[in-house]
Amino acid sequence: MYKVFDTVEEVSLYTAQQLLQKIVAKPSATLGLATGSTMEPVYARLVALLQQTPVDLSQLTTFNLDEYVGLSAQHAQSYNYYMQQHFFNKLSMARERVHLPDGLAADLETACAAYTDAIKAVGGLDLQLLGIGSNGHIGFNEPQTSFCSCTHVVELSEQTRIDNGRFFADQNEVPTRAITMGIQDILNAKEIILVATGRQKAEIMAQLFYSPIDEALPASALKQHNNVTIVLDREAATLLQEKSA
Ligand code: F6R
Repeated sequence: MYKVFDTVEEVSLYTAQQLLQKIVAKPSATLGLATGSTMEPVYARLVALLQQTPVDLSQLTTFNLDEYVGLSAQHAQSYNYYMQQHFFNKLSMARERVHLPDGLAADLETACAAYTDAIKAVGGLDLQLLGIGSNGHIGFNEPQTSFCSCTHVVELSEQTRIDNGRFFADQNEVPTRAITMGIQDILNAKEIILVATGRQKAEIMAQLFYSPIDEALPASALKQHNNVTIVLDREAATLLQEKSA
């Protein structure tokens, strides 16, 4: 299902409301979370809603999609740090229920397998929140990633390193590898919400809309899932409207 709103603000409010509803309906829910610019206003909205609405977060479990290899949780560009800044530090969540891949793990392969196992051990993800890269990646599953993949180490594509370079002082500081949940882990979620905003996402959203299911476009895997909502602002939907007009 596609939902198109006029503004980023409306997209963020809608998405935050969906997350809140899930938490209220099932306080012991397991959420799959994403980082990135798109999610900043979503978390800001969700934090505001959670501050207005007395909701018990003590049973909530979260698993983040991905983390750079080589960055510690204290590194300002790590996804762990991002989540603390935008979400976890603002809420009273049980820290032992918060999970992110460990980019400093001594044995990355073992850490990856343990991450997928940990998601399964809690009964899977009730709701997975996703952004989308300009190359169609979800999590850090770059084009040609197997749709059967579980948590794994990826070499980041040049496009992704350029896109994400905006967060780093120097392009050379952008890590070359990351750990990401696999596409199979994502597809195992009971429900998925993908959010895309801004004109810079218009091309990829048009490609996704018209694409067959194809490993060249990782987000097209979502077409195999029966409970996906794609939430867009007008700008990200620009080329959908032109083509469908
Ligand atoms: C982040 C993630 C990525 C981003 C995507 C879009 O945890 O998994 O797939 O969602 O790169 O990033 P922004 O929102 O910064 O355009």
